[in-house]
Amino acid sequence: MGIVDEIKQKIDIVEVIGQYTKLTKAGRMFRAPCPFHSEKRPSFFVYPEQQTWHCFGACSTGGDVFSFIMKKEGVNFGEALRLLADRAGVTITAGAEPDAGAKEKDRLYQINLAAAQYFNNLLINSSTGEKARAYVHGRGLKPEAISSFQLGYSLNSWESLKQYLVGKGYTEEDLLTAGLIIKSETGKTHDRFRDHLMFPIFDDRGRVTGFGARVLDDSLPKYVNSPQTPLFDKSGSLYGINLAKSAIRQQDLAVLVEGYMDVIMAHQSGFANVVAPMGTSITDRQISQIKKLTKNIALALDADAAGEEAMLRCVSYENALGAEVKVITLPEGKDPDEVIKQGGGAWEHLVAGAVPVVDFTISVAASRLDLSTARDKASLMNKLMPIIAEVKDVARQNHYLNRLAALTGVNQTRLEAAMVRAKPDQKAKETRVEASARALRSVRSNPVEEYFLALVLQHPELKARGSELPVEYFESSENGEIFTRWREAGDLEALKSSLDPAIREHLDNLLSRTLPDTRLEAKYADCALRLREKFLRNLETKKERILALEESGGSEVDLADLEKQQKIEVRHELQKVFNQKAKISKEGGE
Ligand code: UTP
Ligand code: MN
Repeated sequence: MGIVDEIKQKIDIVEVIGQYTKLTKAGRMFRAPCPFHSEKRPSFFVYPEQQTWHCFGACSTGGDVFSFIMKKEGVNFGEALRLLADRAGVTITAGAEPDAGAKEKDRLYQINLAAAQYFNNLLINSSTGEKARAYVHGRGLKPEAISSFQLGYSLNSWESLKQYLVGKGYTEEDLLTAGLIIKSETGKTHDRFRDHLMFPIFDDRGRVTGFGARVLDDSLPKYVNSPQTPLFDKSGSLYGINLAKSAIRQQDLAVLVEGYMDVIMAHQSGFANVVAPMGTSITDRQISQIKKLTKNIALALDADAAGEEAMLRCVSYENALGAEVKVITLPEGKDPDEVIKQGGGAWEHLVAGAVPVVDFTISVAASRLDLSTARDKASLMNKLMPIIAEVKDVARQNHYLNRLAALTGVNQTRLEAAMVRAKPDQKAKETRVEASARALRSVRSNPVEEYFLALVLQHPELKARGSELPVEYFESSENGEIFTRWREAGDLEALKSSLDPAIREHLDNLLSRTLPDTRLEAKYADCALRLREKFLRNLETKKERILALEESGGSEVDLADLEKQQKIEVRHELQKVFNQKAKISKEGGE
């Protein structure tokens, strides 16, 4: 899926526009005073099902969420894309960065690296670092681990890192952006990390994105982390991934533990396939990072976290990975860190004994109940049905139903029937409206638009004619953007360099389509006509909706009158399109 589609899928136009103007529900639409011009009667509408907007007043125009942001924020397509990507939590990959952004990130990586080296040097060499050295020594960390994880120490001082980095030529602004210093209410800045053991957090390519920091005693909070920055997003980070990558691939297994210390202890003891999801629950982004290396995941997380909520999530990871997720049961009250330190094969034994998460859940649930009673049998079913219902793999699902049948004495056919009922039930949290809106929001491709673009892009001789088309005919603004730039550009090279890198992939797709190359003129004419028809039909539908609304008791009769007028015009235009189509098909038939 392209970046534009991904963003469209993740954001809701109603929420975005709702931040700029007060939307009121009106039938299947939302209505508001137009945010682009002042008006007494609201003539601005948002269509959640199409994820589009339209102003029937003075603007007399509309579009999708990108065109809304472009118009409202006065930015170009690329900038709108980035604004919305941020909002949607979509990362625009490095190749697609515009130069300014890429340069800023490079600088932030450099700053982080310089900070990590500064902290590391203090831990290893300074006299003030003695306390921290004693601490890591006491925790059993060896010099090799300190060096491969680049552990460090931040001084008990307000400005030492700041002064060091400013001395190297970085600005306070950059340090703030990197999350290394904090600005107080009075406007003064100071180091974020003071008197802490420092854990640089690396991405899979070995770049420092942020820091974790631990106190050297038992005071609270035990850990502080970097805030969210252009480089650091806790929910996308896996601690240790840079050092674990090849081992995960080789052993075809990723073991997930909870903490920094667990990861380091595992690596230093030769278990290099271990990473940690940074204290938060596991996210889809983390799963997809791991999926590039292996399908097999074993979780050595706190057993208390094995609530039903967490189990449901595990099943969704299984579905994403196409494999079972296993659970490693740790001895009561022990971290992997401690188990590994204990040695004697204890850790290997636990990893080898990992149990598929659904089996684990069934065993735990069953062990807490008295299955000789009817009440507890029912309770077991209620707990497990929603989880089993989520298992996509049919063979495995069947296996679990079998197990449940054996435990409860309910025959499997009846369980299957109950499972069908359990399914919508557990989804009750997600309201029906949300679900259907999401489904509708899923990407709508525009085959005619794309065919048209492929045609004119691949056949420069059509340029003169293609330029006449109004850009409003393009419903998706990435198509509209390519069209506009193409009209302005002299040739393909000029088009490519004027286009935002984030949609170049889309352009490449259009260029690589195989098209017939006969009867170009006719194909062009047909395609242009279909675009016009699509545009007019859309407009007609939108207007009909509004009329229906007015007739069902709306008070803004004036608007309805206006709409009636305009609708007649649209109808008229559409009729012309139909006539032309009839003519073409008659000529074609001769
Ligand atoms: P733990 O409390 O289990 O700490 O938190 P730990 O890793 O075992 O640390 P030690 O062994 O006491 O030194 C697990 C993880 O949760 C995150 C950290 O990533 C930590 O490693 N965490 C915990 C925080 O981010 N903030 C906190 O205040 C506590
Ligand atoms: Mn611990």
